[in-house]
Amino acid sequence: MTEQSGKSPVGIIGGTGLTSLSDLRITGEESVTTAWGEPSSSLLRGQLGDQPVVFLSRHGNPHRIPPHQVNYRANIQALHDAGARVVVGVNAVGGIHGDMGPAHIVVPDQLIDYTWGRESTFFEGDLAEVTHIDFTWPYDQEAREVLIESARLAGVPFSAFGVYGATQGPRLETAAEIRRMERDGCDIVGMTGMPEAVLAAERGLRYVSLGLVVNWAAGKTDHIITMAEIEEAIAQGMSGVKQILEGSMEK
Ligand code: HPA
Repeated sequence: MTEQSGKSPVGIIGGTGLTSLSDLRITGEESVTTAWGEPSSSLLRGQLGDQPVVFLSRHGNPHRIPPHQVNYRANIQALHDAGARVVVGVNAVGGIHGDMGPAHIVVPDQLIDYTWGRESTFFEGDLAEVTHIDFTWPYDQEAREVLIESARLAGVPFSAFGVYGATQGPRLETAAEIRRMERDGCDIVGMTGMPEAVLAAERGLRYVSLGLVVNWAAGKTDHIITMAEIEEAIAQGMSGVKQILEGSMEK
């Protein structure tokens, strides 16, 4: 997952269940601020294998910032300023597609944004010109391929496609909302995929998402969704996510 120009750090945004990377050889910790405010956590610099990495914990460390209150602009700006040009966002998601049950890993290729009221652009205020970025392909194809290859080598259950539906949260969805999302073409549902992806694109970063399914989406099973179930899926699936991340750094 290296930049062609050499070893600029890969940015990793850890989500629910990934507030730290045990295999990261930490070389430094920086508390930074940006023109858009404070990022969710300090930046951890380190090495995964030979690859420099800069790690940020999306919900803070410890986990305390809900999805709708994450300062996505500050997070992306901080990683950009730290030199990252490729960013991997790790997202806990609910599974809608029948093959995407708990502990399954998804490398989405598309997204639909259902969030509202979030600061979702850098292009506002006193602008020299109005800018509309192309967002046809929200995830960087090359970086996706690196993750997919790494997932194959790791031998973990994963899907190399998927439409990520980004919901507002923090509540989970109703069964009817999930049925609507399924009709729209969503395969997985999460609360943090947007505006993170678009802000990365606006900053010229190559962004990719790695989704860990932590529950069946609402109405996809006959029981309600519990935190215990979510924690169990995280315990089961997060080692696969870490394996994929580590393997991808060797590419
Ligand atoms: N819905 C939305 N976000 C989520 C879910 C879900 O079912 N699971 C984990 N994040």
